[in-house]
Amino acid sequence: MTNQTQPHQQASNLWSSRLAFILAAAGSAVGLGNIWKFPYITGEHGGGAFVLVYLVCIAIIGVPVLIAETMIGRRGGQSPVATMRSLTDSEGTARGWRIIGWNGVIASFLVLSFYSVIGGWALVYIGKAAAGLFTGADAETIGGQFGNLLANPWELLLWHSVFMAIVVLIVGRGIRSGLERAVNTLMPLLFILLVVMVFYAMNSGSFGRAVDFMFAPDFSKLTTKGVLVALGHAAFTLSIGIGVLMAYGSYLPKKVNIARTAMTIAVLDTSVALLAGLAIFPLVFANGLEPGTGPGLIFVTLPLAFGQMTGGVLFGVIFFALLLVAAVTSAISMLEPVVEWLEEHKGINRFKSALAGGLAIWFVGIGTVLSFNVWSDIHPLGFLAFFEGKTVFDLLDFLVSNLMMPLGGLAIALFAGWAMRREGLMEDIGLRGGVYRSFMVVLRYLTPAGILVVFLYNLI
Ligand code: PFF
Repeated sequence: MTNQTQPHQQASNLWSSRLAFILAAAGSAVGLGNIWKFPYITGEHGGGAFVLVYLVCIAIIGVPVLIAETMIGRRGGQSPVATMRSLTDSEGTARGWRIIGWNGVIASFLVLSFYSVIGGWALVYIGKAAAGLFTGADAETIGGQFGNLLANPWELLLWHSVFMAIVVLIVGRGIRSGLERAVNTLMPLLFILLVVMVFYAMNSGSFGRAVDFMFAPDFSKLTTKGVLVALGHAAFTLSIGIGVLMAYGSYLPKKVNIARTAMTIAVLDTSVALLAGLAIFPLVFANGLEPGTGPGLIFVTLPLAFGQMTGGVLFGVIFFALLLVAAVTSAISMLEPVVEWLEEHKGINRFKSALAGGLAIWFVGIGTVLSFNVWSDIHPLGFLAFFEGKTVFDLLDFLVSNLMMPLGGLAIALFAGWAMRREGLMEDIGLRGGVYRSFMVVLRYLTPAGILVVFLYNLI
């Protein structure tokens, strides 16, 4: 076991600059959540009103928790579990808060198990794009290709394994050499490519309809469950509530302004999601597809566009390669709390921790692989109306994204807002005067109340 006095705050273990931390945290935030998940859940939950709730959740819940969690991580300077242990001691708070650390390690373990399977889809689609399989194909053919992929457990397992292997190798090599290099150049490229896709979608003839769908709220389409999903997605997309930012914050130098950094990350992340929506929905409407078709949405709409545009093979390959990079930079952040915990508590070195954690996660991921084929009719909690028709994958996603992440966020807001001592908090957060006071009001009252209201609504 390591000593308890901020072991990560040694020069060699810190992020090389504020920019490096922003890139890594943004790399964690921007991922499949923005490009794969945001469009399909927006489609499933009726569009504009859902997007509006999501944006409100980002502002009053996502950003404050992002700030609080990073601040806690930097103060503790260790894995989420050890950080919470030493902070509950040094701040003189109840030990019960330590559950935040455990929630983090368990949730990041579970989320990676299914994220990796979807990451595998991105790998498959690089190959399909390169082979020219989309060229000139119609919606039915492309939908069929996706259906065939889901129907084949061995193929899904293969690519899930390759994805996990990539993640384990990067994480095993250590924080600076592994993580920073991957995000530095490729994230900006992804952003540019999305802008190109939006321009392409503008000429599809259905851009106006897509803008209406995404931004003209129709509250009659919004359900209480939709509000819960929007809250869950705000947490998912910013990677908050499950210790990832605590783990990353533990490597953050003292001089970095956390509030400013968090704002930058939230703006970047939200822009990417909105851009992805603007690239995808015009294609959905122009091709007479259904917005609410579920997880396959981008794997059907975008290939259709690549198949019709000039240079589509090249664009397709680059796009899915960048999607893969975005997925990998998020996935490595999910493995981080697990690895830090294994290193500290089991005394195993970094590489072995990454390998052992990765293997266990890979194994659990098989449940998700089977959810799309052999187990597609198995609905473990189907006897409850709320979970009707939900596969193992759906349940894992629901458990982590809609329960563990927002509730972890709630606990973090309460811990930072109410339990921690106030001395030094203002400096640690990086806000001054009235702005700091307003921030604290939001963190103490609005953020917890927002999360609680959504949960209560869903219970009754
Ligand atoms: N924020 C990532 C995305 O939007 O793809 C997903 C994610 C990363 C969730 C890290 C949870 C996490 F701990």
